[in-house]
Amino acid sequence: MSRRERARPARGGYRPARIPVATAAAPPALAKTAWRQAEARVTLHRDAGAGHRWLELAMPRAFPLPGAGQFVQLLLEAPAPVLLPRPMSVALVRRAAAGPVLGFLYAPVGDGTRALAALDVDDRVLVLGPLGRGFPLEVEGVPVLIAGGRGVAPLLFAAETLERQGRRCEFLFGARDAAHLVALAETRRRLDRMGGRLHLATDDGSRGVHGTVLELLDRIAPHLPAPRVIHACGPHPMLAAIARWGLRHSVPTFLAMESIMACGTGVCRGCPLPRSESERRRLSRARAPLPSLYGNPEFAMCCTDGPVFAAHALDWERLG
Ligand SMILES: Cc1cc2nc3c(=O)[nH]c(=O)nc-3n(C[C@H](O)[C@H](O)[C@H](O)COP(=O)(O)OP(=O)(O)OC[C@H]3O[C@@H](n4cnc5c(N)ncnc54)[C@H](O)[C@@H]3O)c2cc1C
Ligand code: FES
Repeated sequence: MSRRERARPARGGYRPARIPVATAAAPPALAKTAWRQAEARVTLHRDAGAGHRWLELAMPRAFPLPGAGQFVQLLLEAPAPVLLPRPMSVALVRRAAAGPVLGFLYAPVGDGTRALAALDVDDRVLVLGPLGRGFPLEVEGVPVLIAGGRGVAPLLFAAETLERQGRRCEFLFGARDAAHLVALAETRRRLDRMGGRLHLATDDGSRGVHGTVLELLDRIAPHLPAPRVIHACGPHPMLAAIARWGLRHSVPTFLAMESIMACGTGVCRGCPLPRSESERRRLSRARAPLPSLYGNPEFAMCCTDGPVFAAHALDWERLG
């Protein structure tokens, strides 16, 4: 298959995959995705502070545009220290005449991401995407975006999408200390431009509220008009706590999950997340079978059924 063929968009253009509305009678329909594999060129690669790097990749013109919360698989050209691609959330989509530019905020933590960190401008990477289901930003309510650490990047992308809908967000950002509020200056600058409100929390009190983002949420939520909707991205224990908060307060809550991934497309069954009891019951009552790429009634595949899940869909006791 030629490079041009690989990058050709779906007929009718790309529509970001959404979390379908679940009913007792029907399991989720297979989301319409239009992923492609394409060769990308590194156009910017710099230190982002707090042990993170910022990477920008120029994509072929026809590469489908990812939505906020979706991810791509980045595969290094041979010879590379790792065989499999590495999943990375899309943190920025910028349209340019030559084709879209995608941005990523990442931490070099192991062989794959350290090899990624060694790439120079003009080096090539294979990109598979856009993958998975992103944040359902059409859900009504005052958007409350909650970021832990590097979770800030995909949520800034979400904030910009919401801004285009004319919706201003409350943006809660937490880390263990001020030094770990990665890309804080840029976060502030972009939110100022959008009219979003930034609220900070650190575990040691060195910046913002002294405590976790959950404590910050407890303080802010009573001052926000209903309805509210929460979109969150960060470490799993933080997401589990936010999911329980959303369920307790009947606030629609959506969490961007991670898992170790190989294929990113639902085939290898390598990224299972346990479904909640209510979801297991619902799926076992459903008349039509669950699309196999989504896993089974016990386990969701993070890459296809997610990575963004509604709070009620997962078993937080087994995850948190
Ligand atoms: C949907 C999705 C989106 C992601 N987005 C980002 C992002 O925007 N920025 C970013 O820095 N990272 C992101 N990650 C995590 C990133 O993919 C992993 O850090 C990376 O795969 C590690 O590869 P490695 O070869 O460097 O490390 P490895 O040598 O494979 O692993 C190093 C260590 O990290 C652990 N690890 C590997 N993958 C994960 C994971 N997914 N979650 C938790 N621990 C893991 C391993 O168990 C090991 O302890 C995302 C993961 C997923 C599934
Ligand atoms: S990564 Fe292969 S099924 Fe999810």
